[in-house]
Amino acid sequence: MINPVLAEMAVYPFTRLEEERRRLLAAGVDVIDFGKGDPNEPTDPMIRRALVDALPERAPYPLAEGLPELRQAATGWLERRFGVSVDPESEIVPTYGSKEAIFSLAQVLETDGRVVAFGEPAYPVYERGALFAGARAQTLPLRRENGFLPDLDELDDDVALVWVNYPHNPTGAVAPREFYDELAAAAERHDFVVGSDEAYTELWFDEPPASALQAADRSRVVVFQTLSKRSSMTGYRSGFVAGPPEIVAALKAYRPTVGTAPQEFVQRASAVAWNDERHVEETRTRYRAKREVLIPAVESRGWEIVASGATMYLWVAGPDPAELLERGIIVSPGEMFGPSGEGYVRLALVPTLEECERAAAILREVF
Ligand SMILES: Cc1ncc(COP(=O)(O)O)c(C=O)c1O
Repeated sequence: MINPVLAEMAVYPFTRLEEERRRLLAAGVDVIDFGKGDPNEPTDPMIRRALVDALPERAPYPLAEGLPELRQAATGWLERRFGVSVDPESEIVPTYGSKEAIFSLAQVLETDGRVVAFGEPAYPVYERGALFAGARAQTLPLRRENGFLPDLDELDDDVALVWVNYPHNPTGAVAPREFYDELAAAAERHDFVVGSDEAYTELWFDEPPASALQAADRSRVVVFQTLSKRSSMTGYRSGFVAGPPEIVAALKAYRPTVGTAPQEFVQRASAVAWNDERHVEETRTRYRAKREVLIPAVESRGWEIVASGATMYLWVAGPDPAELLERGIIVSPGEMFGPSGEGYVRLALVPTLEECERAAAILREVF
């Protein structure tokens, strides 16, 4: 009765962490949760105000193409941030966060029976989108010695779509700009589409990371952006896709069927968010403060922080997640993101600064 793809799928990894959290809370444990990557930072009051002000007496069905003011805010931001010129009419479509759009890309491309490739360890949606589309999934191990970049020579001959995600969840690795030129050139040679999930480009602590849109040839590059992490707006569900007109048109045609156009009041608040950088700088400052508290405490235990140059994550070699759990500290075991994650844990820097200080004190205790 049930679609076998769904029936055979493992429990979504974060569902398991949530169960663990509830169990500890019920047992009266003072939990500090570094598990799920859902920012606890406040959404800027200016954005919340814009949402309230945009709430109409009656909200009609939103259109898949989205509001011009949001598409223009997105292209203006892309121009300022990455120096790329993108057409708001034909190359942008607003999305309901980026997750559903990432899932949808495999559905709108010709992937049935062909290969969809993605790095591993990984965010689980690339694979799930591929399997629901009837594609075969190819995982490309992301190795530390390669800077957690995929080896493009390992790609299957029948590859239709290649996913990349830099800055990378879970390792926090950043791709150099030249990587996107190489990837786009490979896409042209082997006739595949590049899906670049750029959810974390704004959470950086050193140099601002590059975008796949900066590749010399972006005719096969589809970029997924979101306000979830940049503006701490996960619950608003707001992002956009920037890509070649043919693929953007396909997404616009597909999306009304699944009803994923974002609410117009959310779109109006989102335009305000894309047009402002001050709150993003403040967000980076908050994460920087948490990193300054946690990094020395983690290192004081002799554990190694690997990659982790950007994103809200620390990718740590060495700790035993069960041992940390006993002390009320929830982390994600690395293998949750794929077999190459074994031996690592991921800390999402979502607890408050005070909680991070408490966790740092626990880590400095002898155990
Ligand atoms: C790598 C990556 N991509 C995409 C997303 C989706 O974010 P959203 O759907 O909130 O835009 C997440 C969320 O955690 C993520 O970690």
